[in-house]
Amino acid sequence: MDKITLGSSSLQVSKICLGTMTFGEQNSEAEAHSQLDYALERGINFIDTAEMYPVMASAETQGSTERYIGSWLKKSGKRGNIVLASKVAGPNSRMHWIRGGKNNLDAVNIRAAVEDSLRRLQTGHIDLYQLHWPSRNVPIFGANSYHPQHERDAVAIEDTLAILGKLVDEGKIGHIGVSNESSWGVCEYIKQAELKGLPRIASIQNLYNLTARQFETGLLDETCHRENVGLLAYSPLAFGQLTAKYLDDPQARGRLTIFPPGWSPRYIRPATIEAARQYAALARANGLTPTQLALAWCYSRWFVASTIIGATSLEQLAHNIDAYAITLSPDIIKAVDAIHASLTNPGQ
Ligand SMILES: NC(=O)c1ccc[n+]([C@@H]2O[C@H](COP(=O)([O-])OP(=O)(O)OC[C@H]3O[C@@H](n4cnc5c(N)ncnc54)[C@H](OP(=O)(O)O)[C@@H]3O)[C@@H](O)[C@H]2O)c1
Repeated sequence: MDKITLGSSSLQVSKICLGTMTFGEQNSEAEAHSQLDYALERGINFIDTAEMYPVMASAETQGSTERYIGSWLKKSGKRGNIVLASKVAGPNSRMHWIRGGKNNLDAVNIRAAVEDSLRRLQTGHIDLYQLHWPSRNVPIFGANSYHPQHERDAVAIEDTLAILGKLVDEGKIGHIGVSNESSWGVCEYIKQAELKGLPRIASIQNLYNLTARQFETGLLDETCHRENVGLLAYSPLAFGQLTAKYLDDPQARGRLTIFPPGWSPRYIRPATIEAARQYAALARANGLTPTQLALAWCYSRWFVASTIIGATSLEQLAHNIDAYAITLSPDIIKAVDAIHASLTNPGQ
């Protein structure tokens, strides 16, 4: 498994990152440990989690993902073998179970979040600490257009950076990153870091898959390239839609059928399903599984630093890691772009 230096940090991370948001809901502790063992065997050294995981988020399960990773770290003794990334939740009053619903990116919340994560993870240090979503009004999680009408009180970016800087100085976190961010946000984080001598973001964790390529059109690719901020592409299979299993059998058991449909509408829009159908046909016409096409495409984009994959079984995980060995021909890439031109970002 190839490794790269993540953005402007000193972290050496594998081109595939193991996502863990199924641990504690769809996956048991034993399954989580098997996935972690297997991922490391296959050369993955990069693990992504978050204080709010698993999904679907709930008061009953919150924190289980980090707890399972923590019990694995303790049992395996492999803390030194991995680059561990976690995230602090931004504001979301529905998540009343995270600090009484007052979660935000201020000093009190971020310190509490880091300390709770360290405790659950049974470690003294998080290598990459990310802001799960912005404090300010930004269209995310399927909302696509910005409007000043939705402005809300937000924590100033320099204040967020100041507490992160303290936590870096204390050795609790190593590097920092953003998630679900815009070009403006990336530039502002960098500007404030330079102005105030505070930590610089190394990475951005955003949605990126065949049905959601806004990272390219929103000029985030240019911004991140020029500013040396690495993209950690999440949901490369559009929550499983790009595997085509729901096209083959609409009742197939998986995230899109076991949770309420209202939970993740962007992955079940008619246009997303139609795009998945066309990508699946292209894959099969070229002797690939739809999953292989979606992942090999994501793994090979020039601006993707690492692709965060997710799986609920070792079979899925093996198939997804195996896809790293696949090289897509220029003709397939051209055909992908032709589908994208007619069905642009339906899953964004
Ligand atoms: N920053 C953020 O806001 C954010 C948001 C989302 C995700 N993430 C990160 O990104 C990671 C990956 O995201 P994701 O889980 O949404 O990725 P994804 O690749 O879009 O979906 C993964 C899911 O698809 C299904 N699947 C995977 N491989 C398969 C295969 N070979 N055959 C059939 N089904 C397969 C599995 O679910 P089923 O078995 O249930 O179908 C699996 O859990 C997360 O764990 C998390 O670390 C971050």
